[in-house]
Amino acid sequence: MPVEPGRMLPPYRIKVVEPIAFLSAEQRRMAIASAGYNPFNLRADQITIDLLSDSGTGATSDAQEAVAALGDESYAGARSWFRFRDQVGSLTGYPFILPVHQGRAGERVLFSNLLKPGQICVSNTHFDTTHANVELVGARPVDLPCAEAADLDSSEPFKGNIDLDALEHLLDGPDGGKVGLVLMTITNNGLGAQPVSMANLKATSELCRRHRIPFFLDAARFAENAWLVHEREPAYRDMAPRQIATTAFGYADGCVVSLKKDGLSAVGGFIGLRDEQLHAACEANLIATEGFSTYGGLAGHDLERLAQGLREVVDPWYLQARAASTARMAQLINDAGVDTVQPAGIHALYLNAGRLLPHLSPAQFPGHALGCQLYLDGGIRCAELGSLYLGAMDENHQLVTPAPFELVRLAIPRRVYTDTHLEYVAAILADIAKDPERVSGYRIVSAPPILRHFKVRLEPLT
Ligand code: F0G
Repeated sequence: MPVEPGRMLPPYRIKVVEPIAFLSAEQRRMAIASAGYNPFNLRADQITIDLLSDSGTGATSDAQEAVAALGDESYAGARSWFRFRDQVGSLTGYPFILPVHQGRAGERVLFSNLLKPGQICVSNTHFDTTHANVELVGARPVDLPCAEAADLDSSEPFKGNIDLDALEHLLDGPDGGKVGLVLMTITNNGLGAQPVSMANLKATSELCRRHRIPFFLDAARFAENAWLVHEREPAYRDMAPRQIATTAFGYADGCVVSLKKDGLSAVGGFIGLRDEQLHAACEANLIATEGFSTYGGLAGHDLERLAQGLREVVDPWYLQARAASTARMAQLINDAGVDTVQPAGIHALYLNAGRLLPHLSPAQFPGHALGCQLYLDGGIRCAELGSLYLGAMDENHQLVTPAPFELVRLAIPRRVYTDTHLEYVAAILADIAKDPERVSGYRIVSAPPILRHFKVRLEPLT
């Protein structure tokens, strides 16, 4: 491995910068009120530090912008497509690659050709759009996370794993014949950014092969998973992240990937397949809905940035520095008395809002309340992952079944914020932790029937 111990500096310096906004406390109060206390409704120029998502929010490199100028915008057979395809093909080993404009487009195309109504899709944890796309084709998503994931404080290294016993039990049981797909999310975004071990991937792959069930990866954060494998799974200590990622793709029959994360670009994704017939079916669907199969809704310059981004993202030095930065932020937050899901992953930290704000019941949405307070006090935007997002509600928007945990996700865009920005976030949190009782709860004013968190409107309880 080319990384020297302790080499934590990011392997780049900043050449182009973008101004960020500083609103007064009164302006922030008015902004969040007129957003219906939903951070998704805020304008970007009302935000100081934006930790809503690590998706499409990263900074590109000079090399990416240089190759973007080579973008070939030919409708079919563009040179940029072949450069993208060769890069993705050599990374994944899949013979068939279909480009898409983002991950969920790939999910829609893949699931509508792979899953039938009434079938089951099993995952360690489905991401929310993945869950929705499984349901949209009439299939049922089932999550089987490993037992260790339920203990937020445990420092088990691979809490993103699937529960192999539960999977085997399901496959051998009466519903076994209904399982149409096993989809492993690496890293497990829905469960605290926790990685999946290579041992778990291999065992799942073997189990699926024995039962003749397709095994796919949702590999949006394949490079970050590879880095955590390198760090935490002794057998992979001497293997480079790119090789670990290639080995992981090798265990699966295919993948669906949002490249808005580890593609280090604002848009993009792909479906990787081994099966020629499935490829032909997906390709027909892709042409009808996304674009011809050599661009899939992407411009030639996007394909160029992505091909270069995929080279840069597996740089061990970059991954080590990013992991160290997230771990450092976690330490600052924990030292301030705010618990985070342990151990820290890479793309996000998950705050245990339920524990910080015990005076708020799940029906008062402690995660959401903490997210709003971070905006009110520091102009920080983030997302709730608790009862507002995952709880079951009645028709009057009253909480019927709370989520298992009341969390807040601080997602960290790639190559965007310095440690000074992250220290600022930790300092705002530390201030809240000194007097948590001043954080008030919220109630729902209006909410859409599905994917509630994006468009819900709330008001503070006084
Ligand atoms: N799968 C995972 C694991 C994801 O995290 C996402 C997106 C998708 C699929 C869908 O990809 O956005 O390109 O359509 N996650 C973003 C997030 C939105 O903030 O975690 P997409």
